[in-house]
Amino acid sequence: MKVSVIGLGYLGTTHSTAMAKLGHQVIGIESDPSRLALLQSGKVPFHEPGLQEELQRQLASGRLVFQSGHNDFSKGCDIHFICVGTPQGSNGEADTSYVISAAKELAKNLRPESVVVGKSTVPVGTARELKNLMSEIAGFEVHLAWNPEFLKEGTALEDSLKPDRIVVGAWNDYSAEKVKEVYKPILETGTPFLSLDVETAELVKVAANAFLATKISFINAMAEVAEAAGADAVALAEAIGHDERIGKKFLRSGIGFGGGCLPKDIRGFIARAEEIGAGSALEFLKDIDQINLRRRDRVVELSREELGNVSGKKILMLGISFKPDSDDLRDSPSLEIARKLSGLGASVTVHDPVALPALKDKSGLTVESDLGQAAKDAQLVILGTEWKEYRELDPNVLDVKSKIVIDGRNTLDVGRWQKAGWKVIALGRNIKN
Ligand code: UDX
Repeated sequence: MKVSVIGLGYLGTTHSTAMAKLGHQVIGIESDPSRLALLQSGKVPFHEPGLQEELQRQLASGRLVFQSGHNDFSKGCDIHFICVGTPQGSNGEADTSYVISAAKELAKNLRPESVVVGKSTVPVGTARELKNLMSEIAGFEVHLAWNPEFLKEGTALEDSLKPDRIVVGAWNDYSAEKVKEVYKPILETGTPFLSLDVETAELVKVAANAFLATKISFINAMAEVAEAAGADAVALAEAIGHDERIGKKFLRSGIGFGGGCLPKDIRGFIARAEEIGAGSALEFLKDIDQINLRRRDRVVELSREELGNVSGKKILMLGISFKPDSDDLRDSPSLEIARKLSGLGASVTVHDPVALPALKDKSGLTVESDLGQAAKDAQLVILGTEWKEYRELDPNVLDVKSKIVIDGRNTLDVGRWQKAGWKVIALGRNIKN
Protein backbone atom coordinates (compact mmCIF):
# COMPACT_ATOMS: atom_id res chain seq x y z
CA MET A 1 0.00 0.00 0.00
CA LYS A 2 0.99 3.61 -0.29
CA VAL A 3 1.05 5.42 3.04
CA SER A 4 2.08 8.78 4.39
CA VAL A 5 3.28 9.40 7.94
CA ILE A 6 2.81 12.97 9.12
CA GLY A 7 5.13 14.23 11.87
CA LEU A 8 8.52 12.56 12.24
CA GLY A 9 9.19 12.67 15.97
CA TYR A 10 9.79 9.48 17.94
CA LEU A 11 6.52 7.91 16.89
CA GLY A 12 6.50 9.01 13.25
CA THR A 13 10.14 8.13 12.56
CA THR A 14 9.66 4.67 14.02
CA HIS A 15 6.28 4.14 12.36
CA SER A 16 7.43 5.24 8.90
CA THR A 17 10.44 2.89 9.13
CA ALA A 18 8.24 0.02 10.34
CA MET A 19 5.71 0.61 7.55
CA ALA A 20 8.48 0.52 4.93
CA LYS A 21 9.88 -2.64 6.48
CA LEU A 22 6.44 -4.22 6.11
CA GLY A 23 6.77 -3.57 2.37
CA HIS A 24 4.68 -0.41 1.96
CA GLN A 25 5.64 2.62 -0.10
CA VAL A 26 6.05 5.29 2.58
CA ILE A 27 6.23 9.07 2.46
CA GLY A 28 7.32 10.65 5.73
CA ILE A 29 6.27 14.29 6.08
CA GLU A 30 8.13 16.64 8.42
CA SER A 31 7.85 20.43 8.45
CA ASP A 32 10.96 21.11 10.56
CA PRO A 33 13.72 21.64 7.95
CA SER A 34 16.67 20.58 10.11
CA ARG A 35 14.97 17.39 11.30
CA LEU A 36 13.93 16.64 7.73
CA ALA A 37 17.48 17.12 6.42
CA LEU A 38 18.86 14.77 9.08
CA LEU A 39 16.32 12.07 8.26
CA GLN A 40 16.91 12.45 4.53
CA SER A 41 20.61 11.87 5.14
CA GLY A 42 19.77 8.68 7.05
CA LYS A 43 20.31 10.05 10.55
CA VAL A 44 17.81 9.53 13.36
CA PRO A 45 17.83 12.64 15.60
CA PHE A 46 17.47 10.65 18.86
CA HIS A 47 18.92 7.50 20.37
CA GLU A 48 16.89 4.39 19.61
CA PRO A 49 18.71 1.06 19.27
CA GLY A 50 18.52 -0.41 15.76
CA LEU A 51 16.30 2.29 14.30
CA GLN A 52 18.89 4.25 12.33
CA GLU A 53 20.25 1.11 10.63
CA GLU A 54 16.75 0.02 9.60
CA LEU A 55 15.81 3.51 8.43
CA GLN A 56 18.93 3.59 6.24
CA ARG A 57 18.05 0.19 4.77
CA GLN A 58 14.54 1.38 3.95
CA LEU A 59 15.81 4.65 2.45
CA ALA A 60 18.21 2.64 0.27
CA SER A 61 15.39 0.32 -0.82
CA GLY A 62 13.47 3.33 -2.12
CA ARG A 63 10.37 2.36 -0.12
CA LEU A 64 10.89 5.23 2.31
CA VAL A 65 11.17 8.89 1.33
CA PHE A 66 10.96 12.03 3.41
CA GLN A 67 9.57 15.37 2.29
CA SER A 68 8.51 18.67 3.82
CA GLY A 69 4.82 18.76 2.95
CA HIS A 70 1.98 17.34 0.91
CA ASN A 71 2.11 17.12 -2.88
CA ASP A 72 0.45 15.09 -5.62
CA PHE A 73 2.63 12.14 -4.70
CA SER A 74 1.42 12.07 -1.09
CA LYS A 75 -2.15 12.78 -2.19
CA GLY A 76 -2.12 9.38 -3.88
CA CYS A 77 -1.70 7.54 -0.55
CA ASP A 78 -4.25 4.96 0.62
CA ILE A 79 -3.61 5.79 4.25
CA HIS A 80 -2.31 8.89 6.02
CA PHE A 81 -1.04 8.36 9.56
CA ILE A 82 -1.06 11.43 11.82
CA CYS A 83 1.85 11.02 14.27
CA VAL A 84 2.50 14.58 15.49
CA GLY A 85 3.10 15.28 19.18
CA THR A 86 0.60 16.35 21.82
CA PRO A 87 2.77 18.07 24.44
CA GLN A 88 1.53 19.06 27.87
CA GLY A 89 -0.33 22.37 27.91
CA SER A 90 -0.02 25.01 30.64
CA ASN A 91 -2.77 23.48 32.81
CA GLY A 92 -1.78 19.85 32.37
CA GLU A 93 -4.09 19.33 29.40
CA ALA A 94 -2.80 17.75 26.18
CA ASP A 95 -2.05 20.43 23.61
CA THR A 96 -3.72 19.19 20.42
CA SER A 97 -2.80 22.20 18.29
CA TYR A 98 -0.23 20.26 16.21
CA VAL A 99 -2.75 17.51 15.51
CA ILE A 100 -5.33 20.07 14.46
CA SER A 101 -2.90 21.88 12.10
CA ALA A 102 -1.75 18.57 10.60
CA ALA A 103 -5.37 17.51 10.06
CA LYS A 104 -6.29 20.84 8.44
CA GLU A 105 -3.34 20.70 6.08
CA LEU A 106 -4.09 17.11 5.18
CA ALA A 107 -7.78 17.84 4.55
CA LYS A 108 -6.72 20.21 1.76
CA ASN A 109 -4.67 17.43 0.17
CA LEU A 110 -6.94 14.43 0.55
CA ARG A 111 -8.80 12.08 -1.83
CA PRO A 112 -12.25 10.87 -0.67
CA GLU A 113 -11.17 7.20 -0.76
CA SER A 114 -8.05 7.72 1.40
CA VAL A 115 -8.26 6.87 5.09
CA VAL A 116 -6.82 9.18 7.75
CA VAL A 117 -5.50 7.28 10.77
CA GLY A 118 -4.64 9.10 13.98
CA LYS A 119 -1.85 7.60 16.08
CA SER A 120 -1.06 10.58 18.32
CA THR A 121 -2.15 10.32 21.96
CA VAL A 122 -5.19 12.61 22.19
CA PRO A 123 -7.90 13.46 24.71
CA VAL A 124 -11.01 11.36 24.17
CA GLY A 125 -13.35 13.17 21.78
CA THR A 126 -10.58 14.66 19.63
CA ALA A 127 -11.10 12.26 16.72
CA ARG A 128 -14.74 13.27 16.35
CA GLU A 129 -13.78 16.95 16.31
CA LEU A 130 -11.10 16.26 13.71
CA LYS A 131 -13.47 14.29 11.50
CA ASN A 132 -15.94 17.17 11.44
CA LEU A 133 -13.24 19.76 10.86
CA MET A 134 -11.55 17.80 8.07
CA SER A 135 -14.83 16.93 6.34
CA GLU A 136 -15.77 20.60 6.31
CA ILE A 137 -12.43 21.60 4.74
CA ALA A 138 -12.30 18.68 2.29
CA GLY A 139 -15.92 19.07 1.18
CA PHE A 140 -16.65 15.36 1.62
CA GLU A 141 -17.13 12.92 4.52
CA VAL A 142 -13.56 12.06 5.54
CA HIS A 143 -12.76 8.46 6.50
CA LEU A 144 -11.06 8.74 9.87
CA ALA A 145 -9.89 6.01 12.23
CA TRP A 146 -7.92 6.00 15.49
CA ASN A 147 -5.09 3.55 15.97
CA PRO A 148 -3.14 4.16 19.22
CA GLU A 149 0.52 3.25 19.41
CA PHE A 150 2.02 1.49 22.43
CA LEU A 151 5.73 1.52 21.56
CA LYS A 152 8.30 1.96 24.31
CA GLU A 153 11.51 3.91 23.92
CA GLY A 154 14.51 1.61 23.71
CA THR A 155 12.51 -1.11 21.91
CA ALA A 156 10.46 1.15 19.63
CA LEU A 157 10.95 -0.64 16.31
CA GLU A 158 10.43 -4.10 17.75
CA ASP A 159 7.30 -2.92 19.58
CA SER A 160 5.98 -1.52 16.28
CA LEU A 161 6.66 -4.68 14.30
CA LYS A 162 5.61 -7.12 17.02
CA PRO A 163 2.94 -5.32 19.03
CA ASP A 164 0.90 -7.03 21.78
CA ARG A 165 -2.24 -5.96 19.97
CA ILE A 166 -3.46 -3.64 17.25
CA VAL A 167 -6.34 -1.43 18.27
CA VAL A 168 -8.47 0.51 15.82
CA GLY A 169 -11.47 2.72 16.36
CA ALA A 170 -13.47 3.59 13.24
CA TRP A 171 -16.87 4.87 12.23
CA ASN A 172 -17.19 2.45 9.32
CA ASP A 173 -15.93 -0.94 8.15
CA TYR A 174 -14.19 0.58 5.14
CA SER A 175 -11.73 2.48 7.38
CA ALA A 176 -11.22 -0.43 9.78
CA GLU A 177 -10.56 -2.81 6.86
CA LYS A 178 -7.96 -0.45 5.37
CA VAL A 179 -6.13 -0.36 8.72
CA LYS A 180 -6.32 -4.14 8.86
CA GLU A 181 -4.84 -4.34 5.37
CA VAL A 182 -1.88 -2.10 6.20
CA TYR A 183 -0.99 -4.29 9.20
CA LYS A 184 -1.64 -7.57 7.35
CA PRO A 185 1.91 -8.98 7.73
CA ILE A 186 1.74 -8.40 11.49
CA LEU A 187 -1.78 -9.78 11.86
CA GLU A 188 -0.78 -12.91 9.96
CA THR A 189 1.55 -13.75 12.85
CA GLY A 190 -1.48 -14.01 15.16
CA THR A 191 -1.39 -10.53 16.73
CA PRO A 192 -4.84 -9.72 18.20
CA PHE A 193 -6.79 -7.08 16.23
CA LEU A 194 -9.35 -5.14 18.23
CA SER A 195 -11.88 -3.14 16.27
CA LEU A 196 -13.56 -0.72 18.66
CA ASP A 197 -15.64 2.42 18.63
CA VAL A 198 -13.54 5.54 18.22
CA GLU A 199 -13.93 6.93 21.73
CA THR A 200 -12.85 3.63 23.28
CA ALA A 201 -9.84 3.43 20.96
CA GLU A 202 -8.79 6.93 22.05
CA LEU A 203 -9.18 5.91 25.69
CA VAL A 204 -7.18 2.67 25.37
CA LYS A 205 -3.88 4.51 25.17
CA VAL A 206 -4.36 6.88 28.08
CA ALA A 207 -6.00 4.17 30.20
CA ALA A 208 -3.03 1.83 29.57
CA ASN A 209 -0.53 4.53 30.49
CA ALA A 210 -2.56 5.51 33.57
CA PHE A 211 -2.55 1.88 34.69
CA LEU A 212 1.22 1.56 34.20
CA ALA A 213 1.83 4.82 36.09
CA THR A 214 -0.46 3.57 38.86
CA LYS A 215 1.45 0.32 39.14
CA ILE A 216 4.77 2.15 39.49
CA SER A 217 3.40 4.65 41.99
CA PHE A 218 1.76 1.83 43.93
CA ILE A 219 5.12 0.16 44.55
CA ASN A 220 6.71 3.53 45.27
CA ALA A 221 3.99 4.21 47.84
CA MET A 222 4.81 0.82 49.35
CA ALA A 223 8.45 1.95 49.38
CA GLU A 224 7.45 4.95 51.50
CA VAL A 225 5.66 2.64 53.92
CA ALA A 226 8.59 0.22 53.89
CA GLU A 227 10.96 3.06 54.79
CA ALA A 228 8.78 3.97 57.77
CA ALA A 229 8.34 0.35 58.84
CA GLY A 230 11.92 -0.82 58.29
CA ALA A 231 10.79 -3.23 55.56
CA ASP A 232 12.11 -3.89 52.05
CA ALA A 233 10.07 -2.77 49.02
CA VAL A 234 12.10 -4.85 46.55
CA ALA A 235 11.42 -8.07 48.43
CA LEU A 236 7.81 -6.99 48.83
CA ALA A 237 7.41 -6.48 45.05
CA GLU A 238 8.93 -9.88 44.38
CA ALA A 239 6.59 -11.52 46.86
CA ILE A 240 3.37 -9.89 45.66
CA GLY A 241 4.44 -10.26 42.02
CA HIS A 242 4.29 -14.05 42.28
CA ASP A 243 0.54 -13.68 42.32
CA GLU A 244 -0.29 -13.89 38.62
CA ARG A 245 -3.13 -11.44 39.06
CA ILE A 246 -0.59 -8.83 40.18
CA GLY A 247 2.45 -9.79 38.08
CA LYS A 248 6.07 -8.69 38.52
CA LYS A 249 6.33 -6.23 35.66
CA PHE A 250 6.29 -2.50 36.33
CA LEU A 251 6.77 -3.03 40.05
CA ARG A 252 10.33 -1.71 40.16
CA SER A 253 10.50 0.87 42.92
CA GLY A 254 12.90 3.79 42.79
CA ILE A 255 12.84 7.41 41.67
CA GLY A 256 9.77 6.80 39.56
CA PHE A 257 8.52 7.37 36.07
CA GLY A 258 9.42 10.13 33.63
CA GLY A 259 9.63 10.52 29.88
CA GLY A 260 7.45 12.01 27.20
CA CYS A 261 4.40 9.84 27.89
CA LEU A 262 3.47 8.61 31.36
CA PRO A 263 3.67 11.94 33.29
CA LYS A 264 2.02 14.03 30.59
CA ASP A 265 -0.58 11.43 29.70
CA ILE A 266 -1.93 11.07 33.23
CA ARG A 267 -2.15 14.86 33.57
CA GLY A 268 -3.87 15.17 30.19
CA PHE A 269 -6.25 12.38 31.14
CA ILE A 270 -7.18 14.13 34.41
CA ALA A 271 -7.77 17.39 32.52
CA ARG A 272 -10.04 15.82 29.90
CA ALA A 273 -11.99 13.81 32.52
CA GLU A 274 -12.68 17.08 34.35
CA GLU A 275 -13.85 18.72 31.10
CA ILE A 276 -16.36 15.94 30.43
CA GLY A 277 -17.68 15.82 33.99
CA ALA A 278 -15.85 12.69 35.12
CA GLY A 279 -13.15 14.45 37.12
CA SER A 280 -13.83 12.63 40.38
CA ALA A 281 -13.18 9.26 38.67
CA LEU A 282 -9.57 10.25 38.07
CA GLU A 283 -8.87 12.16 41.30
CA PHE A 284 -6.62 9.26 42.33
CA LEU A 285 -4.29 9.96 39.40
CA LYS A 286 -3.32 13.22 41.11
CA ASP A 287 -1.99 11.09 43.98
CA ILE A 288 -0.21 8.85 41.49
CA ASP A 289 1.53 11.95 40.12
CA GLN A 290 2.38 13.23 43.61
CA ILE A 291 3.75 9.89 44.85
CA ASN A 292 5.95 9.85 41.77
CA LEU A 293 7.29 13.37 42.31
CA ARG A 294 7.83 12.77 46.05
CA ARG A 295 10.42 10.09 45.28
CA ARG A 296 12.62 12.72 43.66
CA ASP A 297 12.44 14.83 46.81
CA ARG A 298 13.23 11.77 48.88
CA VAL A 299 16.58 11.41 47.12
CA VAL A 300 17.37 15.05 47.85
CA GLU A 301 16.43 14.42 51.49
CA LEU A 302 18.64 11.32 51.68
CA SER A 303 21.52 13.27 50.14
CA ARG A 304 21.15 15.89 52.86
CA GLU A 305 20.98 13.21 55.54
CA GLU A 306 24.30 11.82 54.28
CA LEU A 307 26.15 15.04 53.53
CA GLY A 308 24.57 17.47 55.94
CA ASN A 309 24.58 20.73 54.03
CA VAL A 310 25.03 19.72 50.37
CA SER A 311 26.36 23.14 49.44
CA GLY A 312 29.80 22.89 47.84
CA LYS A 313 29.80 19.07 48.02
CA LYS A 314 30.58 17.10 44.89
CA ILE A 315 27.77 14.77 43.86
CA LEU A 316 27.92 12.46 40.84
CA MET A 317 24.68 11.58 39.07
CA LEU A 318 24.97 8.39 37.07
CA GLY A 319 22.48 8.62 34.22
CA ILE A 320 20.32 11.53 33.12
CA SER A 321 17.94 9.95 30.58
CA PHE A 322 14.49 9.01 31.89
CA LYS A 323 15.27 5.34 31.25
CA PRO A 324 18.14 3.29 29.81
CA ASP A 325 18.64 2.87 26.03
CA SER A 326 17.22 6.32 25.45
CA ASP A 327 18.60 9.86 25.32
CA ASP A 328 15.20 11.33 26.12
CA LEU A 329 15.47 13.89 28.91
CA ARG A 330 11.82 14.85 29.05
CA ASP A 331 10.63 14.85 32.67
CA SER A 332 13.64 12.75 33.61
CA PRO A 333 13.58 11.99 37.36
CA SER A 334 17.39 11.78 37.64
CA LEU A 335 17.92 15.06 35.82
CA GLU A 336 15.41 16.81 38.04
CA ILE A 337 17.14 15.46 41.15
CA ALA A 338 20.49 16.69 39.78
CA ARG A 339 19.01 20.14 39.22
CA LYS A 340 17.40 20.25 42.66
CA LEU A 341 20.71 19.37 44.34
CA SER A 342 22.51 21.92 42.25
CA GLY A 343 19.87 24.46 43.29
CA LEU A 344 20.86 23.74 46.90
CA GLY A 345 24.44 24.64 46.09
CA ALA A 346 25.86 21.16 45.48
CA SER A 347 28.48 20.78 42.81
CA VAL A 348 26.73 18.21 40.64
CA THR A 349 28.49 16.31 37.88
CA VAL A 350 26.33 14.36 35.47
CA HIS A 351 27.41 11.32 33.46
CA ASP A 352 25.44 9.28 30.95
CA PRO A 353 26.62 6.78 28.33
CA VAL A 354 24.43 8.34 25.61
CA ALA A 355 22.30 11.30 26.69
CA LEU A 356 24.90 14.01 27.47
CA PRO A 357 24.77 15.60 23.97
CA ALA A 358 21.00 15.90 24.36
CA LEU A 359 21.45 18.09 27.45
CA LYS A 360 21.10 21.61 26.07
CA ASP A 361 20.51 23.50 29.31
CA LYS A 362 23.60 22.66 31.35
CA SER A 363 23.08 25.43 33.90
CA GLY A 364 24.49 24.55 37.29
CA LEU A 365 25.65 21.11 36.16
CA THR A 366 29.10 19.84 35.24
CA VAL A 367 28.90 17.49 32.27
CA GLU A 368 31.59 14.81 32.12
CA SER A 369 31.66 11.98 29.61
CA ASP A 370 34.64 10.22 31.19
CA LEU A 371 33.36 8.19 34.11
CA GLY A 372 36.71 8.16 35.92
CA GLN A 373 36.91 11.95 35.79
CA ALA A 374 33.26 12.33 36.70
CA ALA A 375 33.74 10.24 39.84
CA LYS A 376 36.94 11.92 40.99
CA ASP A 377 36.54 13.33 44.51
CA ALA A 378 32.78 12.76 44.60
CA GLN A 379 31.33 12.76 48.09
CA LEU A 380 28.14 11.04 47.00
CA VAL A 381 27.19 8.98 43.95
CA ILE A 382 23.56 8.66 42.88
CA LEU A 383 22.43 6.04 40.40
CA GLY A 384 19.63 7.77 38.51
CA THR A 385 19.24 5.67 35.37
CA GLU A 386 19.89 1.94 35.33
CA TRP A 387 22.10 1.75 32.23
CA LYS A 388 23.78 -1.64 31.81
CA GLU A 389 27.15 0.13 32.14
CA TYR A 390 26.25 1.15 35.69
CA ARG A 391 24.61 -2.11 36.69
CA GLU A 392 27.76 -3.96 35.68
CA LEU A 393 30.20 -1.35 36.94
CA ASP A 394 33.06 -2.54 39.12
CA PRO A 395 32.62 -0.40 42.27
CA ASN A 396 36.38 -0.55 42.89
CA VAL A 397 37.17 1.60 39.85
CA LEU A 398 35.50 4.77 41.08
CA ASP A 399 38.08 7.03 42.68
CA VAL A 400 35.73 8.98 44.94
CA LYS A 401 36.23 10.94 48.15
CA SER A 402 33.53 9.08 50.10
CA LYS A 403 32.15 5.74 49.09
CA ILE A 404 28.46 6.49 49.49
CA VAL A 405 25.98 5.52 46.79
CA ILE A 406 22.22 6.08 46.60
CA ASP A 407 20.71 3.47 44.30
CA GLY A 408 17.75 5.35 42.82
CA ARG A 409 16.67 2.36 40.75
CA ASN A 410 17.14 -0.53 43.16
CA THR A 411 19.35 -2.22 40.66
CA LEU A 412 22.87 -2.42 42.11
CA ASP A 413 24.31 -5.61 43.54
CA VAL A 414 24.35 -4.35 47.14
CA GLY A 415 26.68 -7.09 48.45
CA ARG A 416 29.24 -6.39 45.74
CA TRP A 417 29.27 -2.65 46.42
CA GLN A 418 29.45 -3.15 50.16
CA LYS A 419 32.33 -5.58 49.74
CA ALA A 420 34.16 -2.84 47.85
CA GLY A 421 33.74 -0.60 50.86
CA TRP A 422 30.65 1.35 49.84
CA LYS A 423 27.74 2.48 51.98
CA VAL A 424 24.67 1.65 49.92
CA ILE A 425 21.43 3.53 50.42
CA ALA A 426 18.35 2.64 48.43
CA LEU A 427 14.75 3.79 48.21
CA GLY A 428 12.27 1.69 50.16
CA ARG A 429 14.98 -0.56 51.55
CA ASN A 430 16.40 -0.88 54.99
CA ILE A 431 19.97 -1.81 54.04
CA LYS A 432 22.37 -2.56 56.86
CA ASN A 433 25.77 -1.11 56.06
C1 UDX B 1 5.45 4.31 27.93
C2 UDX B 1 4.54 3.10 27.75
O1 UDX B 1 5.15 1.95 28.38
C3 UDX B 1 4.29 2.84 26.28
O2 UDX B 1 3.39 1.76 26.10
C4 UDX B 1 3.71 4.09 25.66
O3 UDX B 1 3.52 3.91 24.27
C5 UDX B 1 4.63 5.28 25.90
O4 UDX B 1 4.88 5.43 27.30
P1 UDX B 1 8.09 4.75 27.72
O5 UDX B 1 7.78 6.16 28.10
O6 UDX B 1 9.02 4.48 26.59
O7 UDX B 1 6.72 3.97 27.37
O8 UDX B 1 8.74 4.05 29.00
P2 UDX B 1 8.35 2.91 30.05
O9 UDX B 1 9.18 1.73 29.80
O10 UDX B 1 6.90 2.72 30.16
O11 UDX B 1 8.90 3.58 31.39
C6 UDX B 1 8.36 4.82 31.84
C7 UDX B 1 9.06 5.28 33.09
O12 UDX B 1 8.70 4.45 34.18
C8 UDX B 1 10.59 5.27 33.04
O13 UDX B 1 11.06 6.46 33.64
C9 UDX B 1 10.98 4.06 33.87
O14 UDX B 1 12.23 4.20 34.48
C10 UDX B 1 9.86 4.04 34.90
N1 UDX B 1 9.59 2.71 35.49
C11 UDX B 1 9.16 1.69 34.71
C12 UDX B 1 9.73 2.52 36.86
O15 UDX B 1 10.08 3.44 37.60
N2 UDX B 1 9.43 1.30 37.39
C13 UDX B 1 9.01 0.25 36.63
O16 UDX B 1 8.76 -0.82 37.18
C14 UDX B 1 8.87 0.45 35.25
